[in-house]
Amino acid sequence: MKAKVDVLLGAQWGDEGKGKVVDVIAPDYAVIARFQGGPNAGHTLIFDGKKHVLHTIPSGVFRPGTWNLVGNGVVIDPVILMREIDNLKALGVDVTERLLIGRRAHLILPTHRALDAASEADKGKEKIGSTLKGIGPTYMDKTGRNGFRVGDLERDDRKERYATLVKKHERLLGLYSTATAWKEAEQEWYDASSRLRELKLVDSEHWLDERLNAGDRVLAEGAQGTLLDIDFGTYPFVTSSNTICAGACTGLGVAPGRIGKVIGIFKAYSTRVGSGPFPTELNDATGEHIRQVGREFGSTTGRPRRCGWLDLPALRYAVMINGITELAMMKADVLSGMDEVAICTHYKVNGSITDRVPYDITSGIEPVYEQLKGWGNLSTATDLPESLNMYIRRIEKAVGVPVRIVSIGPDRAETLVRESAVVLS
Ligand code: IMP
Repeated sequence: MKAKVDVLLGAQWGDEGKGKVVDVIAPDYAVIARFQGGPNAGHTLIFDGKKHVLHTIPSGVFRPGTWNLVGNGVVIDPVILMREIDNLKALGVDVTERLLIGRRAHLILPTHRALDAASEADKGKEKIGSTLKGIGPTYMDKTGRNGFRVGDLERDDRKERYATLVKKHERLLGLYSTATAWKEAEQEWYDASSRLRELKLVDSEHWLDERLNAGDRVLAEGAQGTLLDIDFGTYPFVTSSNTICAGACTGLGVAPGRIGKVIGIFKAYSTRVGSGPFPTELNDATGEHIRQVGREFGSTTGRPRRCGWLDLPALRYAVMINGITELAMMKADVLSGMDEVAICTHYKVNGSITDRVPYDITSGIEPVYEQLKGWGNLSTATDLPESLNMYIRRIEKAVGVPVRIVSIGPDRAETLVRESAVVLS
């Protein structure tokens, strides 16, 4: 029987803990596929007390027998990818046998990184807070029809193609007042892209079609989160790709009808890294407490993440845009020990109460909170405390889909599956 593509994605501003859930459910899938973003992502997995951060490689690599595909919608920095492969090899994990790279994926050049830095510096106070990995400029070249793709590495004229693009970038860099050096990064890029050419390069849309027709289940692994989506996120403070479910279709070449479950990952609270609106942000001791207990520091850049309460209008929006069929709530343990926790149920916009995310959330939004009873320490050995169950049921009632997975600690083992999760009205 033909199989479906299930999609797992972030329902907030990224850093929800997608890597951990992919790793936990990977045994159910033959293929894990990344469909957008690039090394701006940092998917953290912890097991046997060891921490692993993946930037480009799908989070199925630690499950033997699983295929890992980097799809056409991803932008790849060959240097970062090779470093990742080498680091995994040093840990005894040889990923190259089960790693496939889509030929249509675009490559990040050293000049893309320089352009990212120059553009951010030029924005001054309006800066996006980009990870500076060259994501925006690479997607600009993709949509501008100038890009350099993985498949181009197999062409005889690859050097000329590279040189043409770099020449264009040099002209663009000349427009900025601050320019970062990039020339010295070139040799490393050439070396890494030669190694990339030796990996298993595939026409991923055909490869996936064959797998699905053979009945192999596929999990599409999103990066960043819904509110960072280029179309539906808090524009312009977003990333440059479609992080939403529809991005899995364009980023892998699968038809919408082939999508099965859509699993939305969210934290029991909210975080955001970089600039941009964040209605429930806590600039106080509670926000700092969440940051410290939750170790909310960027896995790619190390930047402290902004922290705040759970935002239900935003979560409901994510459920709507993505067609989320079930949710996984992460880091419930971080809020343990609080007498009360708050949850934003509505926004007050220009004096009116709404449960919708409006077009402009850059200013004038006031969160409306409900207070709920907190919970104590959590353990996999006992049932979830009733106050946490009430918190979960409140979320389910607001967004209309079940919370099927609850994560109560960073380790693989600290994950509870609520098998019979249903939404109670
Ligand atoms: P860029 O995608 O690196 O250009 O960054 C654009 C915005 O998205 C910035 O606010 C980043 O902090 C944010 N961002 C990019 N990747 C991630 C991620 O993986 N997690 C959380 N935020 C991210």
